[in-house]
Amino acid sequence: MTRKKTDTIAVRTGIGTDTQHHAVVPPLYLSTNYRFPAFGDVPTYDYARGGNPTRAQLEQALTELEGGAGAVVTNCGMAAINLVLSLLDAGDHIVAPHDCYGGTYRLLDSRAKQGIWQVNFVDQSDNDALTHALAKQPKLVLVETPSNPLLRVVDIADICQKAHEAGALVVVDNTFLSPALQQPFSLGADIVVHSTTKFINGHSDIVGGAVVAKTPELAETLAWWGNCLGATGNAFDSYMTLRGLRTLGARVKQHQQNTQAVLAYLQTVPAVRQLYYPGLSTHPAMKSPPVSSLGLVVCSASSLRPIKLGSCALLRGCLYLRLLSHWGAWKAW
Ligand SMILES: Cc1ncc(COP(=O)(O)O)c(C=O)c1O
Repeated sequence: MTRKKTDTIAVRTGIGTDTQHHAVVPPLYLSTNYRFPAFGDVPTYDYARGGNPTRAQLEQALTELEGGAGAVVTNCGMAAINLVLSLLDAGDHIVAPHDCYGGTYRLLDSRAKQGIWQVNFVDQSDNDALTHALAKQPKLVLVETPSNPLLRVVDIADICQKAHEAGALVVVDNTFLSPALQQPFSLGADIVVHSTTKFINGHSDIVGGAVVAKTPELAETLAWWGNCLGATGNAFDSYMTLRGLRTLGARVKQHQQNTQAVLAYLQTVPAVRQLYYPGLSTHPAMKSPPVSSLGLVVCSASSLRPIKLGSCALLRGCLYLRLLSHWGAWKAW
């Protein structure tokens, strides 16, 4: 999918779909219930946990953007990851990145300690470690690239090929690049997850998530589990996310420009010991082939020397930057 097409899908999402009043921006459906036309005649939507027209519009948009067959919008990114884990049976084996998002690590590790499944955290850029982990015949391989927070990059296509040979499903957390910059299905993934809280919504005013499936069968199973678990997202947050999504292409372009400016500046600051940005020759990701195809990755992180003194001094000197546990929005704080 070309960049232009992705931007166009995002901009046009839901526009002109209101057949009743021809509203340009589609309406928000908050209703919990929907009337059955007659006994036994089940409508498309009956109860909002199972389905909602506004949420369905966001699911359709994310499905199109990722190039999948169906999606489930969830109430946060962790709910999306938890939903995918419903595909596992007791005792199944999972391979996950050693540097995945902390919340993902916590969920996988805590459930493993309860004996629900077995998890192997590996450096997926280390071929031997990956081969060793795949020899245990995992049911699911989770990939997060770039990873949060160190922005390490792995080769999705290569991992998919090896994981499929071992009989595993591959789930890619695409939160960091968003479909504007990376479409994991085209690289062989089976499932894509998002924390839509970040770039997809982009306005720091909702917490949300999504699971997109490559096949209709997987999409149906995930929708069943989404309803069963109560993991689905609410209508208002879906409406807000649709609004944010329409400007994804424009925001990502601006983030890329801003990142270059911040990088150029931070490279001149002596207190900055290391910059974690996959486009820099000092970043381990540069050894990995896919980084060149990503375009410019959006975020960077730095560690400061000496850490406490340096970070305070730098932050005190900033007019508009504050310490936050969030990224992917239109503003710095
Ligand atoms: C890569 C990644 N995946 C998943 C999540 C979880 O998302 P949420 O906070 O929306 O539950 C996060 C949160 O920061 C994340 O960075």
